[in-house]
Amino acid sequence: MRNTTGKRNELRKLAAWMAVLLAGAAPLAGQTTLRQAAAARGIPFGAAASADEYGPPDLLKNTNYANLLSTQYDMLEPGNAMKWDVTQPALNTYNFQPGDELVAFAQANGMRVRGHNLCWHTQFPSWLQPYASSSTTTPADMATLLQNHITTEVTHFAGKVFAWDVVNEAFTDTTPSVLGDSIWYDQPGIGPSGTGYIEQAFRWAHAADPNALLFYNDYSIEGPGAKFNAVLAMVTDFVNRGVPINGVGFEMHLELNGYPNFYPSPAGLAQNMQALAALGIQVHISEMDVRLPVNSSGLATAAELQQQAQIYQDVMTVCLQQPNCTAFQVWGVSYNDSWIPSFFSGYGAALPFDFNYQPTPAFSSLMTALTTATPAPVLKTTQVVNAAGYQGGAVSPGEIVTIFAAGYGFGPASLVNYQLDSSGKFSTNLGGVEVLFDGVPAPLVYAEAGQVSAVVPFEVAGEQQTAIQYRYNPGGGTVVSNTVTMPVAAAVPAIFSLAETGSGPGAIENQDYSINGASNPAASGTEIQIFGTGGGSVADAIDGALAPGAGSLVTQPVTATIGGVNAQVDYAGPAPGLVNGAIQVNLTVPSGLTPGPQPVVITIGTAQTQAGITVAVK
Ligand code: G3I
Repeated sequence: MRNTTGKRNELRKLAAWMAVLLAGAAPLAGQTTLRQAAAARGIPFGAAASADEYGPPDLLKNTNYANLLSTQYDMLEPGNAMKWDVTQPALNTYNFQPGDELVAFAQANGMRVRGHNLCWHTQFPSWLQPYASSSTTTPADMATLLQNHITTEVTHFAGKVFAWDVVNEAFTDTTPSVLGDSIWYDQPGIGPSGTGYIEQAFRWAHAADPNALLFYNDYSIEGPGAKFNAVLAMVTDFVNRGVPINGVGFEMHLELNGYPNFYPSPAGLAQNMQALAALGIQVHISEMDVRLPVNSSGLATAAELQQQAQIYQDVMTVCLQQPNCTAFQVWGVSYNDSWIPSFFSGYGAALPFDFNYQPTPAFSSLMTALTTATPAPVLKTTQVVNAAGYQGGAVSPGEIVTIFAAGYGFGPASLVNYQLDSSGKFSTNLGGVEVLFDGVPAPLVYAEAGQVSAVVPFEVAGEQQTAIQYRYNPGGGTVVSNTVTMPVAAAVPAIFSLAETGSGPGAIENQDYSINGASNPAASGTEIQIFGTGGGSVADAIDGALAPGAGSLVTQPVTATIGGVNAQVDYAGPAPGLVNGAIQVNLTVPSGLTPGPQPVVITIGTAQTQAGITVAVK
């Protein structure tokens, strides 16, 4: 079914390898900072930063701190300066000076600013808890308070903060994970039940700055688990109801935690990102640090620094490979301003720069990831076409499709043809390549870097659309494409062409099973067998199985013409011995046709095979 030596294939392979060479290029000359390396990969790279929000010293006036922040990062997030305890020190009295100073520093150094956070259950100014606990304070009062705070702060920083952590850490670390008690939720709350207060906070933030990206931010949601499930359920509900949410922050506060089986595993992290990608939701690695046991000088062992470095490299690599991971941030500029020692006695050394503002092994491993990680394959709907006629735009049950997975060479270097698994069905994994439809791996006809042919599962019948994803794991790590959705049509019929170009002499056998062609035309009144795909549903067809002898027929009405003359359809169904999805249509050649190549068109349901296919008649 596929010409493996055609010129087209060689050129395509060359193009694919050129893409790999370009994509995996060594660092550009002078790429010596994380800021440069991240910019080359198009990923904002930031750090939590401080000014004088808690009084002197103002860290931005510390030359070592300021230089490291502006040279190694192109994004900053006030670790505390935009939180309630700083920004509303008294009821309806606002203080944005520290935040303004950090914004000014960022603007002076070409950095973007991520805002944090508008609604949290802790770090209150001294008046807030007593106010919330007062017997005279009502949920309506709390709603007014929260709305005023969000509106005032987001309006103040509008155009200067590109993304906000609107609500922070609202779910519990329990199984199942539920909303934690807070003055905003239920003590006394702002009125709405459940996630209503979170929804309202997002709506108020969006109203104040419609251009800002709005995130829900939490920890321990970076791998599969009850808390992520709770967050995913909320985000799914918000997306379905049009609540203005753009992303989820994965805080990524880690420890070695039994390295190398650290939490989250790269696969688990990728899986959670993909679950959100399917909703059109971005992910920011928002607060990464990896705390290590330290000695009295705050220093960790070389061995544990290396393990930490690998974790940083793994997380950055996954982020680079997941198209919806759109920012990476560490929680502190250097060891000096890390929160870890104050909150985890005996721990520290959590960041890529040490007490002397010098790179740690984590710096080197982040550079390695930024300069060598293979980007994810990019899947586009335009690359998913019928394997016979190259029509695109929709797929149909059982259709054999060809996916021209974007370059970068994701797949085996040389062609891997179909393999039968232990049950005699076409395997769903060829050379590490899988193609998933709605999460289900599809039978594969062949795979190689940049191109794969798959059989759309018959189960898509009746669906409006199907989600398609390309996955490649040569061993040691899976790269996963974005997910695209395509409409499902009842049939997308096409006839295979002998030249594999989608037109010209069709893959057609004469009545004596010889290949039809100009030198072997079919006589009128004889039966020809036409091979194609995209016939749509076939009763009880099993994905990947080889079709038995003339089995169930195509379920939709089938008509055909040769040379524009109606041709009797004698059979339309699976092609015995070929994988379910290939179809065979037997026609009786009508009389009265001019000898030579005649156009053949088959109509299944309301869909016609592609123009340009001919059958030779005499
Ligand atoms: O030193 C000052 C003191 O002078 C002042 O009077 C007092 C007023 O509250 O604050 C003191 O500063 C402390 C500050 O850390 C020093 O950096 C604050 O007490 C203390 O609350 C603050 O802790 C912050 C912590 O959130 C509060 O939970 C950390 O800096 C900050 O890095 C940390 O960040 C959180 C994120 O916002 C959300 N994700 C988790 C992350 C770690 O907890």
